Amino acid sequence: MKLVVLISGNGSNLQALIHAQQAGRLQGEIAAVISNRDDAYGLQRASEAGIATRVISGKDYADRAAYDTALGDAIAALGAELIVMAGFMRILTPEFVQRFAGRMLNIHPSLLPKYQGMHTHQRALEAGDTQHGASVHFVTEELDGGPVILQAKVPVFAEDDAASLALRVQTQEHCIYPLVVSWFCRGRLRMQDGRAWLDDQ
Ligand code: GRF
Repeated sequence: MKLVVLISGNGSNLQALIHAQQAGRLQGEIAAVISNRDDAYGLQRASEAGIATRVISGKDYADRAAYDTALGDAIAALGAELIVMAGFMRILTPEFVQRFAGRMLNIHPSLLPKYQGMHTHQRALEAGDTQHGASVHFVTEELDGGPVILQAKVPVFAEDDAASLALRVQTQEHCIYPLVVSWFCRGRLRMQDGRAWLDDQ
């Protein structure tokens, strides 16, 4: 199965997906990496792995609808059946989400439904949480609100700051995201009736 990875920045999750593909664990092929920023380090990671890259910048489109149409058309032209959002910092229109319903995954750095949105590590620290983590979920129209597929938990230590906590969470992200993508590529995972379903094959 072909998939497209959408990024805006560092691309450490993309790197984990690339490693999984190289190790034969992804069960899918990263057809291209698309970024909305031309300075995203993840583009370099993709190039080094011989994966096609494309920059689709918001600056080149009149509005969000035009951008999302161009992005969707680029993905469709690649023949990709799965969109993997890995630090893609744009909110997609309901039209885009509907176009690819059930075929979009995202990873979010919190134990959803806690801390939708930004600054999740800082918020977990300020709340005095003793556990934090990351969630892989299907993308729906509600931002960070789609059905959760898999979560990884980490402890929060007294001496943590947002940076140390982010690092601990990201290490787990790199484990769970390729696993979930491999489930989808093998046809084990689907979104139905607003829930995530995993078959035990
Ligand atoms: C990750 O923490 C992910 O949870 C969030 O954005 C970050 C992306 O990091 N959605 P990277 O670009 O994969 O290193």
